[in-house]
Amino acid sequence: MSETLENLSSETRQFPPPADLAANANVKADAYEEAAGDRLAFWAKQAERLAWTKPWDQVLDWSNPPFAKWFVGGELNIAYNCVDRHVEAGLGDKVAIHWEGEPGDTRTVTYSELLKLVSQAANTLTELGVTAGDRVMIYLPMIPEAAVAMLACARIGATHSVVFGGFSVEALATRIEDAAAKVVITADGGYRRGKPSALKPTVDEAVSRTDRIEHVLVVRRTGQDVAWTDKDKWWHETVEQASPEHKAQPFDSEHPLFILYTSGTTGKPKGILHTTGGYLTQTSYTHHAVFDLKPESDVYWCTADIGWVTGHSYIVYGPLSNGATQVMYEGTPDTPDRGRFWQIVDKYKVSILYTAPTLIRTMMKWGDDIPAKYDLSSLRVLGSVGEPINPEAWIWYRKNVGHERTPVVDTWWQTETGAIMISPLPGVTAAKPGSAMTALPGISADVVDDQAQSVPNGGGGFLVLREPWPSMLRTIWGDDQRFLETYWSRFGAGSSAGGDEWIYFAGDGAKKDSDGALWLLGRVDDVMLVSGHNISTTEVESALVSHPSVAEAAVVGATDPTTGQAIVAFTIPRGNVDTAGDAGEALIKELRNHVAKTLGPIAKPRQIMLVAELPKTRSGKIMRRLLRDVAENRSLGDVTTLQDSTVMDLISSGLKTAK
Ligand code: WT7
Repeated sequence: MSETLENLSSETRQFPPPADLAANANVKADAYEEAAGDRLAFWAKQAERLAWTKPWDQVLDWSNPPFAKWFVGGELNIAYNCVDRHVEAGLGDKVAIHWEGEPGDTRTVTYSELLKLVSQAANTLTELGVTAGDRVMIYLPMIPEAAVAMLACARIGATHSVVFGGFSVEALATRIEDAAAKVVITADGGYRRGKPSALKPTVDEAVSRTDRIEHVLVVRRTGQDVAWTDKDKWWHETVEQASPEHKAQPFDSEHPLFILYTSGTTGKPKGILHTTGGYLTQTSYTHHAVFDLKPESDVYWCTADIGWVTGHSYIVYGPLSNGATQVMYEGTPDTPDRGRFWQIVDKYKVSILYTAPTLIRTMMKWGDDIPAKYDLSSLRVLGSVGEPINPEAWIWYRKNVGHERTPVVDTWWQTETGAIMISPLPGVTAAKPGSAMTALPGISADVVDDQAQSVPNGGGGFLVLREPWPSMLRTIWGDDQRFLETYWSRFGAGSSAGGDEWIYFAGDGAKKDSDGALWLLGRVDDVMLVSGHNISTTEVESALVSHPSVAEAAVVGATDPTTGQAIVAFTIPRGNVDTAGDAGEALIKELRNHVAKTLGPIAKPRQIMLVAELPKTRSGKIMRRLLRDVAENRSLGDVTTLQDSTVMDLISSGLKTAK
C-alpha cells in the first residue's frame, strides 16, 4: 500500500464551523492539547461524567497487553447512569424516546417511564433465574423494548448479545451456542416495508437447535399468530406485571457488558466483548463531543438498528447516559413513501441526525425534490458512519439536508473500537468532504507502511491505533488467540517483527493528506493492484459519484491478463438520467473518461456497468465480493447475508439485456 496515487486527494473544499456553534461548542480546540499533555488524566476526567459507586484506583492497567483494564477497581451500574440518575436529578418527565412505529403509531417514553420498564424487566429476568455474568440474547425489532431489554440486562450484570432482527435461524443459533446464552428476548414480529414481518418462528427454530435456552420472553408488537412452547412467556404478562421497584447493584468497571458478533470476511463470526466503565466513558464523552449534544434543547436521531454497534453506542448507551431526548424509528426509509425520514425530522424537530453513507446515496438517487418538501430547519449537526462517505455525497447531505448551514461529522470507528475514534469536532474542525479528519482527543491513530513506519503527510498505508482506548474490545469471546491474531499480530510487539509497542491493526487502508487529515480508503482486502499501482475502491467510487449523473457506485478489481487486476465499476445513475440505448453507451464512455481525468489514466475503469441496485449487507455495506464474482464471470458465492437476495438476479439479468 505504500505506493498510492498522488493526485487523488484533489479535494480542496473545506467547511469551517458556524460561528455560533463554535462559540458555544461543548468541546473546543484546547481538548486536543489537554489530552496530548496527559492522556490518562484526560480520560479520567471524562470518566467523571459518570456516577461511580466506588472510585477507581488506576486509570489504565496495560501490564498484560493487549488485554487492557480501564478504571481498575472502580464500580458503577450502567442502567443507573443511563436512567435513574436523570430521574433523581428531577428530569423524570423529560422525554427519553420519541418512538415512531412504521405504520405511524407512536409512543413517548419519559425517563421515569424508562426507569419503571427497566426495573420491571430487571425483576422479571431475575425471576427467570438470570444472574450477573449470564448471557441473554436479544432479537427484537426497533421498539422501545429493545433499549429496555439491553438496560435491564446491564442493570443486573447479565451480558447481552443483540442479534439483528433480519438475521437467519442459522445466525441466531450459532450465536446462542457461542455465547452459551440462557434466555432469548424477542417479539412476535415487527413492521418492515408496510407489513408485519415475523421474528418468533426464527427464534423457535434456533432455540430448538440448541439446548442452551431456558426461557423466551416475547414482546407483542404486531399481534400476529405465534406458535407457543413451554419456554415462552409474554412480556406483557411478566415484565409489565412485575414490581417497578429495583435497586441497581454496582458492578466492577471490567464487568462484561455485551458481546456483539461481527461477521468478518471469513470464518465464524467474532464475538466482540465490551465491558462496563471504559465503554460507557467513551460512548458518553464522544456523544457529547462529536454531536455537541445539548440535552436540554436537542432532539437527536440515530437511524441505525439496535442490532449494530452504532445502535448500542449511539442509541442506547451514549445518548441515554447524557440524558438526551431522541427519536427511535422502527421501519424503512421508503415506507409509506420516500419522504419518511424528512417527515420524521420535521415532525419531531430533530436537531442532530446520525446516519450512513448508503442511506445518503440512496436519498441522492431518489432526488433533491424529496427533502425539499419538508421543514428541515431544526437540524444543526449531521453525522455519517459505516463506510467512507464520498465527497459528493457529503456535499449533497450538507446542501440538501443541512441547507449549507450544518457541520457534517464523518465518524470512523468499528464494532471493535466501541465508540467513535476519528472524526471532526463540529465546533472546532474545518471539515473536508470525504475525510474523517483527525483522531479525537485522547485517541492515537496513525497510518503506517508495511514496516510499521508512520507515513509522512501525503503518504498512504494501513490505519493503526497506537495507544489503548477506554472503549476498546477486551477480547473475542472465548478466543483470546484469535483476538491476538486478528488485531495485534500484523505490527509491533505482537508481530514476528516484534518491538516494544502494541499496535492495533484496524484492517482499513488510509492516507494522510498534505495537512495530515485522514482519508479512509475501505478495507485493505478491497484494495486493487492495477499494473503495479495500489488503487483503492473508495477513491474510484468517489470519482464516479462526483459525476452529476451518478448516485452510487461500487468498484472491484477483476483478474486481468495484462494489468493483473482491472477496474470494473457498477454504477447506479441518478433518478432523472436517461440510460436507454445509445444514451447509456455515451454515459459509460463519459464516466470512464471522467474517472481518468479525475484520478489519472491508471484509474480508468476497464468496464462500467449501469445497474439499478447494488448488493449490500444488512448493515448497508456494499458486498464487493459478489460483484467480483460477476466481474469475473463466476457463479455467485454465499449470498445469505445480503439485505435483498433478489438484487443479484437483477444485476445479472440487467447485464444480459444491456449486452
Ligand atoms: C468498518 C467497521 C462503526 C459503526 C458501524 C460499522 C468502515 C466505518 C467509517 C467511516 C470510512 C468507515 C471501516 C471500518 N467504516 N465508519 N466514517 N469512514 N470507513 O461498524 O460493522 O464494525 O465496521 O466500517 O471499514 O473498519 P463495523
